[in-house]
Amino acid sequence: MIHASHEAVMVDEVLENLVFKQNGKYVDCTFGAGGHSLEILKKLNKEGSLISIDKDETVSINLPSHFSDGRFSLIHDSFSNLQGIFEDEEIDGILVDLGISSTQLDDPNRGFSFQSNGPLDMRIDSSKGQTASEWINTASKKEIEDVLWILGQERASRKIASKICQSREKQTIESTKELSDLILSCVSKKSKKHPATNSFRAIRMFVNNEIQELQKVLEAASYVLCCGGRIAIISFHSMEDRIVKRFFQNKDRIESTIKFNYIKEKFLKPTKEEIENNPRSRSAILRVAEKVC
Ligand SMILES: C[S@@+](CC[C@H](N)C(=O)[O-])C[C@H]1O[C@@H](n2cnc3c(N)ncnc32)[C@H](O)[C@@H]1O
Repeated sequence: MIHASHEAVMVDEVLENLVFKQNGKYVDCTFGAGGHSLEILKKLNKEGSLISIDKDETVSINLPSHFSDGRFSLIHDSFSNLQGIFEDEEIDGILVDLGISSTQLDDPNRGFSFQSNGPLDMRIDSSKGQTASEWINTASKKEIEDVLWILGQERASRKIASKICQSREKQTIESTKELSDLILSCVSKKSKKHPATNSFRAIRMFVNNEIQELQKVLEAASYVLCCGGRIAIISFHSMEDRIVKRFFQNKDRIESTIKFNYIKEKFLKPTKEEIENNPRSRSAILRVAEKVC
């Protein structure tokens, strides 16, 4: 069953801080395996509603029966289109749980992971856009180096970019194993972390335009939320969290001048217990803020 393996992160904290109105209209921008969506639905009363979005069309395959609920609907789209989707509507709460799910990461055919061999794809929406393999076999050395350094903070970015360019002259790089082996030949294994972790994450973020998508959803959310409406963002990367933090501080905006106030703390982290039960939650940071009008 495709939806079984992703465990939703910081569920109690999301529910407590985001879902303040049982008859409200909520949007889960990142449905994934539906963990957060299900808990939000449980907290709403019969007048409440939840619209969930995901860029990956496969999330709707084998949807569990608890989503056959008149209060729920699922849309296949990018969350950056939030304003287009909810043009004349007012939303009470928006959740954005960034990145990809364990279900996507653990599927070798999606090409997100160095842990198993598969085609080097990495697209969240497999129906469009350039695959990681197409990009890595055509991008300039400088572009690869910049992506690995800026999005991955990979210290060996220059060495890895050179190795990729040398290697692809002989044979194009098509699989996750080929890329992972290339990286391993450039980076020494000093910590518990796999040497390809930073590079794979950076390439995934680049292929899916993740930074721009985040900037756009923050802007769009500021328009579609009602006064006092709340937004909760879970990020797993310091660059993403910095964007969220600065947005709430009214900085680095594209256009919106709408103000936000944090709900209680500026940010929340998973409890020790959650990290023990779900190690993938360890780098999560949750920020929840309300729109001030
Ligand atoms: C961390 S998972 C969410 C897990 C979910 N909260 C749960 O409880 O199962 C992130 C999800 O967001 C989706 N996603 C990533 N970028 C997106 C975007 N720009 N627009 C819409 N969905 C996106 C991914 O396909 C993935 O399913």
